[in-house]
Amino acid sequence: MERPATRNDLEDDASTHVLDERTPRRRRSRGRRAGGLWSGPPEAEDDDRPSQIATSPLGVEPIDLDPVRGGYPGGRLVLDRYRLEGKLGAGGFGVVYRAWDEKLEREVAVKVIPKDGDGPVPQRAAREARVAARLNHPGIVALYELGQDDEAVYLVSELVHGRTFADLLKGGALSDRDVAQIGTALCDALRHAHDKKVIHRDVKPQNVIVVAEPAAGAGFAKLTDFGIAHLAIGDPLTRTGDVVGTLAYMAPEQAEGERVTEAADVYSLALMLYEGWTGVNPVRGNGPVATARRLGTHLPPLRSRRRELPDDLAAAIDAALDPRPDCRPTLAQLRRALDGVDDDLSDEGGLVEPATLERFGLTRVGRARVRDPMTTDSLPARVAMRVAAGLAAAGLTLGGLTALGPTPGWSPLAAAAIVALLTAISPRLGWVAGICVVIGWLGSPGTDREGTALLLTAAAAPVPLLLPRAGLWWSVPALAPLLGAAGVAPLYVVVAALAPTPWRRAGAGAAGFLWLLTAEVVTGHNLLFGVPAGVDPRAAWETSLSGGASDALFPAVGSTAILPIVVWAAFAALLPVLVRGRALVLDALGAAIWAAGLVAAHSALAQLEAPDVPLDTARGVIAGAVLAVVVAVAAAGAGLVSPPEDEESFSPRMATP
Ligand SMILES: Nc1ncnc2c1ncn2[C@@H]1O[C@H](COP(=O)(O)OP(=O)(O)OP(=O)(O)O)[C@@H](O)[C@H]1O
Ligand SMILES: [Mg+2]
Repeated sequence: MERPATRNDLEDDASTHVLDERTPRRRRSRGRRAGGLWSGPPEAEDDDRPSQIATSPLGVEPIDLDPVRGGYPGGRLVLDRYRLEGKLGAGGFGVVYRAWDEKLEREVAVKVIPKDGDGPVPQRAAREARVAARLNHPGIVALYELGQDDEAVYLVSELVHGRTFADLLKGGALSDRDVAQIGTALCDALRHAHDKKVIHRDVKPQNVIVVAEPAAGAGFAKLTDFGIAHLAIGDPLTRTGDVVGTLAYMAPEQAEGERVTEAADVYSLALMLYEGWTGVNPVRGNGPVATARRLGTHLPPLRSRRRELPDDLAAAIDAALDPRPDCRPTLAQLRRALDGVDDDLSDEGGLVEPATLERFGLTRVGRARVRDPMTTDSLPARVAMRVAAGLAAAGLTLGGLTALGPTPGWSPLAAAAIVALLTAISPRLGWVAGICVVIGWLGSPGTDREGTALLLTAAAAPVPLLLPRAGLWWSVPALAPLLGAAGVAPLYVVVAALAPTPWRRAGAGAAGFLWLLTAEVVTGHNLLFGVPAGVDPRAAWETSLSGGASDALFPAVGSTAILPIVVWAAFAALLPVLVRGRALVLDALGAAIWAAGLVAAHSALAQLEAPDVPLDTARGVIAGAVLAVVVAVAAAGAGLVSPPEDEESFSPRMATP
């Protein structure tokens, strides 16, 4: 695109009235108050009315500023620096333009708020904008400058190429999962702001711009109008534009003029998401008065409108909409609830579909996408994953029913088929059903394999706890004994490392070792360090619960033979720290260092475990480690390894059915 001629100078221009330079500097005083500049009551020195601009009658209608309509002749230069190019939209206080920053030669968005008088922008508003300008987060539209001239106040910010949540919602472009993912991104953005003592106070669908591609994380949805609450809110009833649209998302305590805390943003965000899932903002009435009347009332529970939404999610949203700020969850809790159900929600018709992106002119963001190999957005791949999970659970069921005791009178194959079907429909339910069938059969009085049933229970029960809600991962630990049988047990650690979060990687690593050890105990084969000392052959204990405990379970888990569980969990969690999917050479180097560490850790384990295990070196550790390097590098190249900075926090993440 041809740009206007630029002066390309970086000198300060006297005619540019940048408030940061005009308002008194009180740097030392910033943030000194408990609760921060934004969260406490107004300071005594704020004699200027915070809502001075907002409450003005706005003599000029926003549309008058439209260059196309002649208010500002095409390409008008403001603040002697920003060339207004085209209108992006209009709100209650002004018009937002796409503009060209002639000094820094970049695109920006300029919000033009017509001035009501000659006075400067209220000190408090200016100060808050300065604080907001220091926020730096991919989920927050960066505020570059707040300036003014005789006619207007100008808020200059990052130009976002995207569509507002409001537009997308209206156009039916958001799937249930999109809404949850936008919510997650906004939780992160707000957490960053709250950490810096900035409360947004105007979270609403018009102030959220969605870029594209949910998997891009925090940069996927961006909050605008940060730090201008005092410029832009004021008394909502006196403003022009979408009065109801502003009131309808406002936390009750905020509308009442009471002290506003972070919980106000939690409320507004939850209400926006509620609307995202139901299509209805339950606060919105036919006009400002009707809307104001509904503020602070208990809203209909989310599940009353969307019965099929997960319980935990609905409970968190309902709690976030509690009229009492103290009863609302924190952003971290809300985020966990959103993230935990992410994969339980449908993505049909949403932003993952190219047709939707195209319809809304959304472009994909450039950032590399990190995928959980167990979850993918393409329908055939999702079906394939479920079929694979179904087959794995069926295989375990069939193996358990035929190899560990007398064959049942009923068809194990039919049972396995039912388990496969159930798992494909609901991975967690199917897996639990399969395990229960096997353990139930072995432990039933006629079968008389209580000892084996106990061992299997000890191996299976921790899996859902180690991999919470990640049902598609629950059969994966069975790979550990299989790889052990092939003589490359440590290769399993790299498989566990493909899980998307550190906790899930650690959980998958730990569960894999648990299954490997159980397989050694149950089969009597040496798969890694061998059958622990004190464990008797299965024939000695399989028929007795107490025998299973004393002659198999306790010697295995109560000795040093259990120690590799820690090493497997740690190495699975750590792989992405060294293998980041950025450059092949670096990945290969990182993977080699990781594999060397894995080998070293196994030789240390061999020393530690010497009194309790038969083998003095880990079986297949070198071959497993070498293969692990190959798998790690290939997986990183395919975008299946999650670098730590792509993860929001080192906290348990609950997702995946
Ligand atoms: N930084 C930006 N980049 C791209 N588009 C933007 C940006 N900021 C705002 N817009 C667009 O301009 C429109 C108007 O924004 P504006 O903030 O003026 O209105 P609003 O949010 O509806 O009301 P309010 O006056 O309460 O903020 C937005 O809906 C959005 O489409
Ligand atoms: Mg806005």
